Amino acid sequence: VKDWNGIDQIVLKVPSGASVRVSLHGGQVVSWRNEKGEELLFTSSKAIFKPPKAMRGGIPICFPQFGNCGSLEQHGFARNRIWSIENDPPPLNTNSKFGSGKATINLLLKPTDDNLKSWPHCFEFRLRICLFMDGHLSMTSRVRNVNGKPFSFSFAYHTYLSVSDISEVRIEGLETLDYLDNLSQRERFTEQGDAITFESEVDRVYVGSPTVIAVLDHEKKRTFLIRKEGLPDTVVWNPWEKKSRSMLDLGDEEYKQMLCVDAAAIEKPITLKPNEEWTGRLELSSVLSTCCHDH
Ligand code: BG6
Repeated sequence: VKDWNGIDQIVLKVPSGASVRVSLHGGQVVSWRNEKGEELLFTSSKAIFKPPKAMRGGIPICFPQFGNCGSLEQHGFARNRIWSIENDPPPLNTNSKFGSGKATINLLLKPTDDNLKSWPHCFEFRLRICLFMDGHLSMTSRVRNVNGKPFSFSFAYHTYLSVSDISEVRIEGLETLDYLDNLSQRERFTEQGDAITFESEVDRVYVGSPTVIAVLDHEKKRTFLIRKEGLPDTVVWNPWEKKSRSMLDLGDEEYKQMLCVDAAAIEKPITLKPNEEWTGRLELSSVLSTCCHDH
């Protein structure tokens, strides 16, 4: 299908009714619905679906830079580029516990001359997006160095989860970890809380985080499980009231319905020698909470 700018979108569907929509603009997942048709990712009502910016919501890919610590545009150029479909990509190594999906799309990004001017490294970025029978979503990124020299990059699956009310949400799996605080020049702190809850702006990179993180939405009785491989860090971001008001493509009150939890590689950039390939996987599932965590 085409979006309203004529850019192709691919819809993946499985018989249970779950679906995923992917835009070639950025290789961005713009929708993920469960078997009941409920949208699980946040999209701003003020989102601008027009290059050269990534739409505010879904899962933009941050590559080859996360944030603005570097010479490139914020979060790198991958989310602003038009990706192509690759029909017959080189096989993925099969010892992954994620297995193969029921509905799959393979995308490819290579640098343009413009990209090479600001970041002079030849790469091939392959992105495989799979929707499984039970509705869970996996994204596998492979970056290959096709350059004569090594290069380094940082990376994030900038995942905008849809939540009922940010004050009712907690994250489990990040307690006691160190984090770099983007609100104070990436100063390093240690998390003291039992679980992460929200009452003001949060913009942190939790370093060396476990492979499974849970985001519990009390009101919807829904838990998101984020599983990751090759991605040691986890970004947690909510702009809260003041920052939201300064963002053109986010409604003033919409921060209450979103939470970004990104599987990422930021603190220690990934370095690839010539011909080396890096793989970073994200698996997202949404389950009904079976118990209540009172706090
Ligand atoms: C987050 C960053 O991941 O993305 C924030 O940690 C940033 O600092 C946010 O504000 C949104 O970035 P952008 O470029 O999509 O507005």
